[in-house]
Amino acid sequence: MQKQIVIEPVTRIEGHAKITIQLADDGSVADANISVTQFRGFEKFVIGRPFYEMPSLTARTCGICPVSHLIAASKACDQILSVRIPETANKLRRILNLGQWIQSHALNFFHLSSPDLLLGMDEEPARRNIFRVMEVEPEKARDGIRLRAFGQTVIETLAGKRIHPAWVVPGGVSEPLSAAGRDKLLAMIPEAKAIALRTLRWFKQSLSQYQEYVRTFANFPSLFLGLVDPNGKLEHYHGRIRVMDAAGKIVADQLDPLDYQSYIGEAIEPWTFLKFPYYKPAGYPEGIYRVGPLARLNIATQTGMPLADEELAEFHDLERGAVLSSFYYHYARLIEILYAIEQIERLLSDPAILRKDVRATGGVNHDEGIGMSEAPRGMLLHHYKVDENGLVTWANLIIASGHNNLAMNRGVLQVARHYINGTKLSEGMLNRVEAVVRAFDPCLACSTHALGQMQMEIALLGPDGALLDRLTSV
Ligand code: MG
Ligand code: NI
Repeated sequence: MQKQIVIEPVTRIEGHAKITIQLADDGSVADANISVTQFRGFEKFVIGRPFYEMPSLTARTCGICPVSHLIAASKACDQILSVRIPETANKLRRILNLGQWIQSHALNFFHLSSPDLLLGMDEEPARRNIFRVMEVEPEKARDGIRLRAFGQTVIETLAGKRIHPAWVVPGGVSEPLSAAGRDKLLAMIPEAKAIALRTLRWFKQSLSQYQEYVRTFANFPSLFLGLVDPNGKLEHYHGRIRVMDAAGKIVADQLDPLDYQSYIGEAIEPWTFLKFPYYKPAGYPEGIYRVGPLARLNIATQTGMPLADEELAEFHDLERGAVLSSFYYHYARLIEILYAIEQIERLLSDPAILRKDVRATGGVNHDEGIGMSEAPRGMLLHHYKVDENGLVTWANLIIASGHNNLAMNRGVLQVARHYINGTKLSEGMLNRVEAVVRAFDPCLACSTHALGQMQMEIALLGPDGALLDRLTSV
């Protein structure tokens, strides 16, 4: 005899999912999970399409992270062409990827998560949102809007429009950057940097208030995976995979993304459409790992950018081994925003950024392509096989929220165990369950390749499986 709580839809995350909390007879939490309830078979419906359509097709799978898919897809297509793409095109793609990091991280931190941090997890839902933040902390709300606007302007200036830009193409990019475009972006850098620095200062000063969440928000040992350059510096566009354990020890380094199938397995559970990737040498589910901002900053020796490197050194001092609490995803996002601004400034300051040769052309020279990049939420992988005419015969995508699926589920269980006892639910307790999911910033639209609706639900089921309580987001 067990009881269950179901939370559906979970609010302020990107996608549609359901949290189920199972109670034991004594009212304690026996089990909890997050399941993705919508499914569109993207990997199936691209079969038979020409490979060069993949960037724009995959970008349309998600209204939140089209830029990330464009980049991973184009990198996979570069391999099918077997061309070496012009260095300026690589740099322009890098700037675009960083613009996406900034706008996505700002959206999560300011719009989705700051209401919890500034107004409190127990504030009533009608008064716990970005509009209330605008009333209570107008400067912070304004900072969030300005920072996100900077990221969006980067994307718009390079790619022409914010949503589903088709500027990244197999072999490079379709248009060079204009001097006017470069100057406009460079002029926005000082304000963006100032916002990033003062937000970091505020967040670090406030950390003492959040120790309860630091302790309980998916705070457990796991592996951390992400891309690094040959010297172990933070990488977001090329690079190879580093694997770090909870003690901070590098257990594997410079793994080739092209060989991902030899070290990443994908397990399936019957209750969700989202697969469970795991690190094969450790087995399933022991091979649980985290990706994204927390993982990237754990594994990176340095960022290579002066201001971000100072912040990274402080971040590494938080814990003796790897930083284990997923609450620190928020902290890591802020450092990554600073890194991205500094990096964009450096790339734009290179005179070669205005070169006109930005696209290599070629035919179908290879029957397979694998593209991996660091999306805001973590490693994103596109893998295609094509026939001699370049038509897709097979496709696999592993998206960041998939990599984090095991950890997100364990995090939901940890928070539910800590805050829920008995069949009476307070909205504040359930918000903490949702907040741990928001810390991972999952894009559930991408996870399932679903389009449209983005909502979530939480349900509490009793010992006998009967529904005791249920919350849905509006
Ligand atoms: Mg897949
Ligand atoms: Ni997405």
